[in-house]
Amino acid sequence: GAHLLSIAQFGNLSDLRQIFDVARELEVYARRERVTRVLEGAVMASLFFEPSTRTRISFESAFALLGGTVTSTTGFTFSSMAKGESIYDTSRVISGYADVMVVRHPEVGSVAAFADASSVPVINAGDGPGEHPTQALLDLYTIMKERRCELEDVDGITIAMIGDLKHGRTVHSLTKLLSLFKKISFRFVSPAELAMPEYILEMLRERGHEVFITENLPEGVAGADVIYMTRIQEERFASVEDYQRHRGCYTVSRDVFSRFCKPEAIILHPLPRDSRPGSNEIDVDLNDHSQLAIFRQTDNGIPIRMALFTLALGVSDQIHRDSRPVNW
Ligand code: CP
Repeated sequence: GAHLLSIAQFGNLSDLRQIFDVARELEVYARRERVTRVLEGAVMASLFFEPSTRTRISFESAFALLGGTVTSTTGFTFSSMAKGESIYDTSRVISGYADVMVVRHPEVGSVAAFADASSVPVINAGDGPGEHPTQALLDLYTIMKERRCELEDVDGITIAMIGDLKHGRTVHSLTKLLSLFKKISFRFVSPAELAMPEYILEMLRERGHEVFITENLPEGVAGADVIYMTRIQEERFASVEDYQRHRGCYTVSRDVFSRFCKPEAIILHPLPRDSRPGSNEIDVDLNDHSQLAIFRQTDNGIPIRMALFTLALGVSDQIHRDSRPVNW
């Protein structure tokens, strides 16, 4: 089937254009202005073995908005994996019940193992510190929408990625996705211990992108068009002490933004942002700031995930068939 497991599946920008074109066509349904039933009769299995709010709910909502039905299991305790069932058996069984599977799992490569055993398309909704390809697609879609530009016009931007670049799967996937452009200027801001993996840095340099690395936030955000904050990934650290040492290391606040960032820069974050005392990646004093795009970014998860479903199930050319205005 047409699995979506990694950004490495995309060889060039042309491979992406169709996803964004279909997403744009689906905006009218995502905004609840019209109803489409193009996936009526189809079943999506939503399998989340790690916590999630927006990925799970937006995938499930996206499928429902296409007229499909969702079945789900969350956590290890509510599937028979708690009784020792393998990924292979789990996936084979569920692929007999569903037409597409969306899987989040704590181990790198585990979603690919689901795909190997499945007869239906499998979409990676996050495999541990590995990848989160659909997040990267909605992040790029957000950058296009915020800049009111076409895909190819994203070329040449400067993006600052800040925080836990070692464990953050969203920045791994987004960096790989942006590397498909001719020249992007990457500014990586993190404690040295939480730096972007070396294989990704090498790949960027090989492809001719600019890479600037710093531990200093004001230096890192200078000149950036996109400020991409991330959470320190508590669940990926070997010890509590290691995590505590990095907690709260960077905060973008209204003051930081006005002093060090370009006024037209946009602030993104895959979310969740950690709002507990001692962590404050994006200060709440930016909540109503025009350049804070984090909630427009989460909204964009719907049209992107709807587009991925229609493409995976081969109905992207039929989405408007039998569509009608909403009656509620
Ligand atoms: N961005 C993201 O993956 O959020 P959730 O973990 O809440 O799904």
